[in-house]
Amino acid sequence: MSGPSLKKQDAHDLIHESALNEAKELRMLLQKCVEDGQKEKAIKVAEVSIEHWESRTLQHASSEEEGLYKEMVTEKPHLKTLVIQLTRDHDLMRKMVEQMKALLINNEIDEKLVSLMDSLIIVDSLHNDDEMNKLLGHKEFYKLEIAEESDEIA
Ligand SMILES: [Fe+2]
Ligand SMILES: [Fe+2]
Repeated sequence: MSGPSLKKQDAHDLIHESALNEAKELRMLLQKCVEDGQKEKAIKVAEVSIEHWESRTLQHASSEEEGLYKEMVTEKPHLKTLVIQLTRDHDLMRKMVEQMKALLINNEIDEKLVSLMDSLIIVDSLHNDDEMNKLLGHKEFYKLEIAEESDEIA
C-alpha cells in the first residue's frame, strides 16, 4: 500500500498493528522454543520471524520512503526534519534485522535473539506512534509548534 492509502491514518495504523501483533506472537513462540530447548523449531521460528520483518515492516518502510514521506515533505516542507528522523528509525530497524540474520547464520538462536526482537518491537512501536501522531496528525503537531514559537517571541 502506498500513496493516498498510507495517508489515511486509520488504514495505515491497521497495517502497523497487524504486523506488530504477528511479530509479538513470533517473539513469544521463539522464547518458548528457546526455553524448552527445541533447537530445530527455534531455527524455523527465527527464519519465519526474519522473513516477517523483511516482508512486512521493512517493505512498508521502503514504500513510505519512496512515496508517502516524499509527498508529505513536498506538501509540508516543515515536516522534513521529522521525515529524516523517521527514516533513521527505519535504518535502525534494518540494522537490527541484519543482526538477527547474523545470529541465525552463526546458529545463535538463544536469549540474545529474543532480546533483539524485543528491542525491534519497541523501536517499531515508538516509530509507529510518531508516524501517527506527528506525521499524519501533523496539523495538531504544527499548531503546537507554532504555539511554542509564539510563546518564545512573546
Ligand atoms: Fe515507518
Ligand atoms: Fe508506517
